[in-house]
Amino acid sequence: MRTAIDFDAHYSSPDPWGLKHAGRRDRALGKVITPYVDGRSVLELGCGEGHLTSTIFSRAKSVKGIDISAIAVSRAQALDLPSASFEVSDFLTVSFAGYDVIAAIECLYYLSAAEQDAFLQKLVREHDGVFILSAPIIGANEHRSYYTHSGIVQMLARHGLSILQWRNLNAYWRAGIGGIAAAAMIRLPFGEALIPHLPEALVYQRCYVARRTGNT
Ligand SMILES: C[S@@+](CC[C@H](N)C(=O)[O-])C[C@H]1O[C@@H](n2cnc3c(N)ncnc32)[C@H](O)[C@@H]1O
Repeated sequence: MRTAIDFDAHYSSPDPWGLKHAGRRDRALGKVITPYVDGRSVLELGCGEGHLTSTIFSRAKSVKGIDISAIAVSRAQALDLPSASFEVSDFLTVSFAGYDVIAAIECLYYLSAAEQDAFLQKLVREHDGVFILSAPIIGANEHRSYYTHSGIVQMLARHGLSILQWRNLNAYWRAGIGGIAAAAMIRLPFGEALIPHLPEALVYQRCYVARRTGNT
């Protein structure tokens, strides 16, 4: 999936990624992201139907959500959120200037490796605030090539970005017996407190907060 046609087809029915059931991920995301977005101006890349715009980004001073899918953007606009605006755009071409925070939650890996490099080059040229990246760190699976923790560290460093903080978002139940056990444990009462302590091999998604080196 890469083009507007691909993503529009995916959005033929609402909530194609089942985000209404992503409460655990959203709570973990909120813990790491909220302090950076509270009262700030945010550019939310790959905002989809506005699920995160209406939840974890709702305390930002302003949010501009952009997405390549016109169908998703029209659903986000229909939420009529205060302090939020939405635009159909490819995040390889949108301007990054003028925001306190730029967030790419679960969307950068749709770009090829060369496109990701171009994206990060443009980002550091135009933006000197906080950059938030969230993605699976499981390597590649049958769907696509995601990231590894060391791959993200190297990719950000290569572009002059220093990591301020990172946080595990959920367990990877397909990581053998350990993954099944971890996924079961975090569903127990108070089990979510274990998520930050999961070893890397049992983690599905991780969220990184970074900033241009020297601006930390
Ligand atoms: C997996 S969804 C994530 C939605 C939301 N960020 C979340 O995590 O809840 C990925 C979103 O990225 C958007 N997207 C993918 N590539 C894009 C691009 N090059 N420019 C803008 N949006 C893009 C897709 O249309 C889709 O809405």
